[in-house]
Amino acid sequence: MNTTTISAKDFGDNFKWGVAMSAAQNEGAYLEDGRGLSIWDVFARKSGKIKGNTKPTECCDFYHRYKDDLLLAKALGFTTFRFSISWSRILPDGVGKVNKAGIAFYNKLIDECLINGLEPMITIYHWDLPYELEKKGGWTSHLMRKWFERFTTICVNAFGDRVQHWIVMNEPSGFTTLGYMVGQHAPGKIGFDGYMSAIHNAALCTADGGRIIRSHSSKAIIGTAFSCSEVIPYKEELLHIKAAAKADVILNRMFIEPALGLGYPEDPDFPFLEKLYFHSKAWKYTRQMQFDFDFIGIQNYFSLTVKHNSIIPYINASEVKASTRNVPHTDLGWEINADSFYRMIKRFWDYGNVKSIIVTEGGACFKDQLKNGVVNDEKRIAYYQQYLAAVLKAKNEGVNLNGYLAWTLTDNFEWAFGYNARFGLIHVDFETQLRTIKNSGYWFRNFLKK
Ligand code: BGC
Repeated sequence: MNTTTISAKDFGDNFKWGVAMSAAQNEGAYLEDGRGLSIWDVFARKSGKIKGNTKPTECCDFYHRYKDDLLLAKALGFTTFRFSISWSRILPDGVGKVNKAGIAFYNKLIDECLINGLEPMITIYHWDLPYELEKKGGWTSHLMRKWFERFTTICVNAFGDRVQHWIVMNEPSGFTTLGYMVGQHAPGKIGFDGYMSAIHNAALCTADGGRIIRSHSSKAIIGTAFSCSEVIPYKEELLHIKAAAKADVILNRMFIEPALGLGYPEDPDFPFLEKLYFHSKAWKYTRQMQFDFDFIGIQNYFSLTVKHNSIIPYINASEVKASTRNVPHTDLGWEINADSFYRMIKRFWDYGNVKSIIVTEGGACFKDQLKNGVVNDEKRIAYYQQYLAAVLKAKNEGVNLNGYLAWTLTDNFEWAFGYNARFGLIHVDFETQLRTIKNSGYWFRNFLKK
């Protein structure tokens, strides 16, 4: 397939084209109008683990500039707008009293989306747990299900009259692994015991969230978003193959299989999993972790080559970086491999009981240069051409694939990479908040118009 000649028309009339963003990465206004602190506010202040020691206090100031940003999304031709709800803006203590100003903000945002012909798609949880809940154990606490139930119920009751599309959880594998096992993300916990509780509570809350939304909104279309990365053994040797299989469990299988009713993944060579079953008495929970999602969101940022490494506890695997293998990669070192993305789409579809797939995020980080009012991000354009061709191929082969949301509209706070890792279709000068549409943004506009 010639990746440069495809256009949005090839995907059919009902295909959703959108952009995605999240509260913690975009909103800023971190202490305004009664918002409570999130784990990211505190992590950024205390951990020393964020590049440049930057903080998500202002981000790209979406809280004040949402009208302009929505106009930009519309101008580029998008018709779906995915955003997340900041839990601590709605419930500053995590539970307890509702902050009316928080509800009012999202009401305005939703109304503005509708005025601009942008279908709002809400993510309930995109990694910014209220700090007050982290103090009580956060995702490791069995109370999480109660807390999450309250937050979800408030959201669906407040916004469900105008919002049809919901994503319960963004990449549970990402926030549990990075936040509760390796400590690179908030809340910065390291080790295995907390990690396993976090996995289990996130798996339960994913399905609970689906049930809660369904019970409060009959018209809701409910999904949840998983990360996925093909894991390729460094060499076709047993040790490396086993290492790849373990990494595959963590990166790809850990959450989708319970959500589809299959229970936690099994791998005879991975004793870690037995620990998880023992820890959570998971066999009791197989039904509770399942929900009949209307769509599964998939997000693929890289494929991974791994080799056996006995120093790494349990998983015994470590990455062989793309840069050392001389293969194409983004400026974060993440391998660019659209064929591998195509294989992951097929693999998720092949579970058999996935009703529909939406690519709920896709994008790449490059060191963009703003020169004379122009950002010529050719590499990002090439990236989208290849990845969209992969989506189209899978769709044409029968995968019920119904949308693609670019990550992301504007440059924003890229978690532990701070403000220097740019993913946007629109450049942001973080000193002045000036927006400049990158060439990839213009490319998308053209692509969507044809
Ligand atoms: C997350 C986004 C993040 C992106 C790029 C995804 O895993 O959902 O919040 O910005 O990856 O790192």
